[in-house]
Amino acid sequence: MDSTQALPDQALIDQLVQHHAQEPGSLLPLLHDIQDRLGFIPASSVASIAEGLNLSRAEVHGVITYYHHFRSTAPGKHVIQVCRAEACQSCGSEELWALAEKLLGCKAHENSANGMYSLEPVYCLGLCASSPAIQIGDTLHARVSEAKFTRLVQALESTS
Ligand code: FES
Repeated sequence: MDSTQALPDQALIDQLVQHHAQEPGSLLPLLHDIQDRLGFIPASSVASIAEGLNLSRAEVHGVITYYHHFRSTAPGKHVIQVCRAEACQSCGSEELWALAEKLLGCKAHENSANGMYSLEPVYCLGLCASSPAIQIGDTLHARVSEAKFTRLVQALESTS
C-alpha cells in the first residue's frame, strides 16, 4: 500500500477512534466500525486505537485476534462464507467446505494466493430451512449443492 492510500485510512481510523473514545466499552464497536469501513483492521492502527481508548496495545491486539470475525489483513475481492452450523452440516456443508477449500485454494480465514477469495466459516446465516447456505459478499445463497457452489465460483471468475 502506498502512502497516498495509507493516509485516508489512518485519517478515517483517527476519526473513528475520536468518535468512540468517550463511550464505555467502546473497543468492540470501534473495531466493528473500522472493519465495516475498511474491510479489515490494519495492524498499523493498533497503536492509535490503544492510545485513543487508553488501553495497552496488547489488549487491543488480544481482542482483534480473539474474535475470528476481525481481519488483520485486507480481504480477497470476494468474501465467501460457508455456514458450518448444525442444520447446514446435516445437509452437507462439510463436503461443501472441503470443496470450497479445494476450489478457492485457501483455508479458513485465509485469502487465496491470487487475492480473489477469502474463505470464512460462519455459524448460521438464518437460512436453516434451506440448508446448506453460503454468503458471497452481501448475497445469500440457499440449498447450495456442490454443483451450485462450483457454478457460483465459475461465475465470479468469469466476471473478474
Ligand atoms: S445453520 Fe446454516 S443457515 Fe442456519
